[in-house]
Amino acid sequence: MIHLAVFASGNGSNAGKIIEYFHDHPEISVSLVVSDNPDAYVLTRADEARIPRALITRQELREGQPLIELLDAYNISFVVLAGFMRMIPAVMVKHFGHRMVNIHPALLPAYGGKGMYGDRVHQAVIAHHEKESGITIHYVNEHYDEGAIIFQARCPVLPGDTPETLAQRVHALEHAHYPRVIEETVHALRAG
Ligand code: GRF
Repeated sequence: MIHLAVFASGNGSNAGKIIEYFHDHPEISVSLVVSDNPDAYVLTRADEARIPRALITRQELREGQPLIELLDAYNISFVVLAGFMRMIPAVMVKHFGHRMVNIHPALLPAYGGKGMYGDRVHQAVIAHHEKESGITIHYVNEHYDEGAIIFQARCPVLPGDTPETLAQRVHALEHAHYPRVIEETVHALRAG
């Protein structure tokens, strides 16, 4: 069994879809949900799915090593970031290498980097009159949103779109693709 940890800071609708997708999967299991936010709804999702969850502190994130120990304790060999708002420590990036992925709600390399998260991304896309937006699933390296791209999917930006309406369309793409792309990435790692 390959054990995944899902990191999320808020609602965790992606985490929810990932948990659903791998429920009863023969080779891959979501074995831990990690959050930096004690009020995050993703923790309730973990409880409902009977998946262990851990809250991590800023200090643990800064140091990095305690986080690696936590993940080791659950035999985690693959990390999925799904709306996790904090910087991943460099030691963890090194430790996991291509065994850690993130999703970004735009077509990187555009509209990525520090400060580009949540509705700010969609606001910027609309302000620049883009005709298209979408999602990017990528490996995590030590720079925000700069790891090698694994997968992108596109959707239109429609006249009259607000950050909310665009976010909904982008979220639908995330939910439709992220679980399957994770599965394929894990399989590719095993094969390679
Ligand atoms: C998603 O749009 C993801 O791309 C971004 O944060 C959002 C998380 O949404 N990194 P949710 O918590 O999964 O609903």
